[in-house]
Amino acid sequence: MPNSTTQTNNSSPLSSWLTQLPKIELHLHLEGSLEPQMLFDLAVRNNVDLPYVNVQEVTKAFQFTQLQDFLDIYYQAAQVLVTEQDFYDLTWAYLLKCKEQNVLHVEPFFDPQTHTDRGVAFSTVINGIDQALTDGKEKLGISSELIMCFLRHLDEKSAFETLEQAMPFLAKLKGVGLDSSELGHPPEKFSRVFAKARELGLLTVAHAGEEGPAEFIWTAINDLKVSRVDHGVNAIQDPELITYLRQTQMPLTVCPLSNTKLKVFEHMQQHNILDLLALDICVTVNSDDPSYFGGYMTENFEALAQALDLNQTQAIKLVQNSITASFCDEQRKQELTKILNDYQ
Ligand code: ADE
Ligand code: ZN
Repeated sequence: MPNSTTQTNNSSPLSSWLTQLPKIELHLHLEGSLEPQMLFDLAVRNNVDLPYVNVQEVTKAFQFTQLQDFLDIYYQAAQVLVTEQDFYDLTWAYLLKCKEQNVLHVEPFFDPQTHTDRGVAFSTVINGIDQALTDGKEKLGISSELIMCFLRHLDEKSAFETLEQAMPFLAKLKGVGLDSSELGHPPEKFSRVFAKARELGLLTVAHAGEEGPAEFIWTAINDLKVSRVDHGVNAIQDPELITYLRQTQMPLTVCPLSNTKLKVFEHMQQHNILDLLALDICVTVNSDDPSYFGGYMTENFEALAQALDLNQTQAIKLVQNSITASFCDEQRKQELTKILNDYQ
């Protein structure tokens, strides 16, 4: 086992160990896995104009100083997604990447309002995604649970309409989430929609404490009754919240590369994920929007190894936390735990 000072590069023993490490992803926006090449291919296929002439220009545009810079580009790029086949291809490409990186279980998010607001039918979006997830299970052995997110910069009415559109498809959904611009849009804006979603049998999660204050984490927990908090790194500002998170083992789905790209932390050396782990908080590693932030699951683990000397014991604990925090059934959790234990 490498000691805690082992550095990784792409060919180091730790790097290949991290690539093969069985992994679970609980915080991934499918629209954020749209790679520049697919962006261009779909723009041509659907005759959509892009403000970029080539992949290099796209990559150059991915310089962000805050969440909103990223969201503006992310929503614009999502306009190339039009047909059921597009949503299938997007999801399938993500699953192939998971296979390459030994990601065994995923719980992706999608943002229906980004598509329905420009005339794409809800059924087009969810059927394309769901078919790819079904094929992913059958052909790649990757299990999944799908989470529908409401855009928090839009109003409660729009969220209710989206939940209404989801009604015929509830069997394809495990839960609902809350994403987009956090500042100015506290979780409690959606208390009533989330209450309705829970009545329908859906689990709830919410982005909170990414750019927003620790207070938003409290209201995600108390008002939206979330089972997990997405990001949650600003919990560190509130000692009482830290105690609560430790005592309840409320999971945080942390996204290291996202947090540095969006300047939640200036440098990865300043990231607090391993401090939270040391405090016995149930933190997990995730990629958020991998095509925008410089990497998928393995790259996120590698970034922690490089900047924070992540060791194998910590990496295993992070994956164990993801299994515990996942929405899969007990049998699948046991299977995943066995695979992880056999790897050690
Ligand atoms: N939508 C996609 N990625 C997001 C993030 N990191 N925060 C909020 N909304 C998002
Ligand atoms: Zn996110």
